[in-house]
Amino acid sequence: MFSHWLNDRLQLRSLQLTDANELFALTDQNRPHLRQWLPWLDRTTTAADSRTFIRNTLEQFADTDGIVAAICYDGNIIGTIGYNHIDWTNHVGYIGYWLAASHQGQGIMTAACQYLVNYSFSTLILNRIVIACATHNQKSRAIPERLGFSHEGTSREAEWLYDHFVDHEIYALLRRHWEI
Ligand SMILES: CC(C)(COP(=O)(O)OP(=O)(O)OC[C@H]1O[C@@H](n2cnc3c(N)ncnc32)[C@H](O)[C@@H]1OP(=O)(O)O)[C@@H](O)C(=O)NCCC(=O)NCCS
Repeated sequence: MFSHWLNDRLQLRSLQLTDANELFALTDQNRPHLRQWLPWLDRTTTAADSRTFIRNTLEQFADTDGIVAAICYDGNIIGTIGYNHIDWTNHVGYIGYWLAASHQGQGIMTAACQYLVNYSFSTLILNRIVIACATHNQKSRAIPERLGFSHEGTSREAEWLYDHFVDHEIYALLRRHWEI
């Protein structure tokens, strides 16, 4: 199982099936906050749905297809970060993340993302990491911008969010531009 402490209160760790109730409760409490930018809220209506998600992340880890980690603060789950997808043929990882509204504004996701970037280049030996953010999702865009990703352009109408398309801003970092 994967585990890494970012500091004495913040831990990134593998999700376990026993986390399903806690993860679902957090999702449910943050539904309007998350639904603004993430497409899966209407498909996540019971703890069983969170359990299915967790099972998929465990299979992903077992298949060495990257990680999805719970972000824990003082032992409580406050969000997740991981790979939406890894293209092993081309050594490209696509990172996704979310944080409870109550824990925004403290640099937690930037620190978690920095760790995942370092892990991606040093352990997974990826060559390129991509973060795609909806154009108007300024808080999300600020994360790759803080971490030195390059803004490569806009994918028009790249994502269907319930009742409308959003454009994606594509941020990427190459291994040769990575600095610890
Ligand atoms: C995207 C999301 C994770 C960003 O959360 P966030 O709290 O803004 O990001 P961070 O945890 O990195 O915190 C950055 C904030 O903390 C502040 N901060 C404080 N200390 C900091 C530090 N040491 N390092 C960096 N930022 C710090 C920053 O100034 C920034 O605040 P600001 O927005 O008022 O300028 C969150 O808004 C979210 O989950 N949104 C819904 C889901 C979503 O959009 N997911 C992404 C889809 S692409």
